[in-house]
Amino acid sequence: MSDVINIGLLGLGTVGRGVFQLLDRDNAEIVERLGGTLQIRRILVQDASKERGVQIPPDLLTTDYRTVLDDPKIDIVVEVIGGVGIARQLVLGAIERGKSVVTANKELMAHHGREVMEAAKAQNVDIFFEASVGGGIPIIRPLKDSLIGNYVKQVMGIVNGTTNFILSKMEAGMSYEAALTEAQELGYAERDPSSDVEGKDAAAKIAILASIAFNSRVTADDVHAEGITSITSQDIMYAQELGYAIKLLALAKIEEDSLDVRVHPTMIPLDHPLATVKDAYNAIFVEGDAVGNLMFFGQGAGSLPTASAVVADVFAAAENRISGRSGRSACTCFKDYDIRSIDDVVCGYYLLIECVDRPGVLAQITHVFGDNQVSLGSIIQKSVTDGVAEIVFMTHKVSEGNLRTAISGIGALKSVSEIRNVIRVEGVTR
Ligand code: NAP
Ligand code: HSE
Repeated sequence: MSDVINIGLLGLGTVGRGVFQLLDRDNAEIVERLGGTLQIRRILVQDASKERGVQIPPDLLTTDYRTVLDDPKIDIVVEVIGGVGIARQLVLGAIERGKSVVTANKELMAHHGREVMEAAKAQNVDIFFEASVGGGIPIIRPLKDSLIGNYVKQVMGIVNGTTNFILSKMEAGMSYEAALTEAQELGYAERDPSSDVEGKDAAAKIAILASIAFNSRVTADDVHAEGITSITSQDIMYAQELGYAIKLLALAKIEEDSLDVRVHPTMIPLDHPLATVKDAYNAIFVEGDAVGNLMFFGQGAGSLPTASAVVADVFAAAENRISGRSGRSACTCFKDYDIRSIDDVVCGYYLLIECVDRPGVLAQITHVFGDNQVSLGSIIQKSVTDGVAEIVFMTHKVSEGNLRTAISGIGALKSVSEIRNVIRVEGVTR
């Protein structure tokens, strides 16, 4: 048997170019295993005259989406445009016309996952989205299929390359601004990098992972998300001195029948495997009740790494079309867990407080902590200049609600000039 599976590629940016390169080369193994070939038949772009750094036969390019969607020969549509505007319309349009869809679009899947998956189920076609989380790292299929024998206890990871790159460079002494510019030049950052640095990109990704890991729909809006814009070189330096790395962590876990899903800068012990993940690398740490701890590590962004995941999905969709098994990748969200309020989260905290250097001030601050059941693990005075002291407090585990009340009380003390930063700490044992 020798089938030709025709592909309509929507978008030829960072990821689209990678997909083109991987499908354009000699793919003997794909042909052998598929019993057919994967052929790009049309590529939709916004500006057909743009210089793209790869040799594209001009007759493949189009700026009219109908030449892709209305072409009955196109079996699989690959959406690598991004966003939830035109991309959503095109994905739904392709599904409506009976085409299987592969997308790298986390925003689409995290905001409209249910709609897209239900549409695919109704049309008996596939919707695959491996590249939407962790770039080139296989994580969606492992969670969905390879770990089916487990109850997942938690998923925790570094899922945004841009912010991990920035934090790594800041650790090495680079400024935040210079590191962000470099991440943009390397193609890691989203078109609007605020979505990376404010934690929204990671929130979309953990919403997707949580929905799969816990079989309960979580959307990006359900995720408490904070970014890295408040993290300073000073925090990073103090964290290192205390034996921690600061990472933008995305995590999802079951706590008393509700889902704790959040994204925020987190101090993690330097000996935790996630602390060793540097630059634009991503890693996802999964705890299953049977398998124990697993870590999936690799390049979470960039042209060819992301295209690697897209091409794997294209292959799976093509195999299904050839064997008549399309439409089996339906939604698995058959449970309906509540989302836990951030006030109920319990962890350790780092606080950097600037106060007057005068007898009795430390006692006032610790008194407020004590009144709010905040137990302290350590207190380190970092510096005293011109009568102003900088003190780092590390708490034991405490509920966020109690900590916030304590912070308001401390902020109201006349002797306290500034609460410079508050960072959650993972790995605190008591
Ligand atoms: P990109 O470089 O900005 O490319 C977007 C492409 O879409 C461009 O080719 C653009 O055409 C085309 N496009 C935009 N609006 C269009 C419209 N209205 N009609 C037709 N074409 C349009 O984006 P990207 O970085 O490749 O990302 C694509 C998707 O992959 C996003 O969902 C992103 O979140 C996801 N993703 C990216 C990475 C990464 O490392 N970059 C990793 C994982 C997932 P022109 O070229 O003509 O302007
Ligand atoms: N902007 C994203 C990142 C690209 O930095 O990880 C991959 O989704």
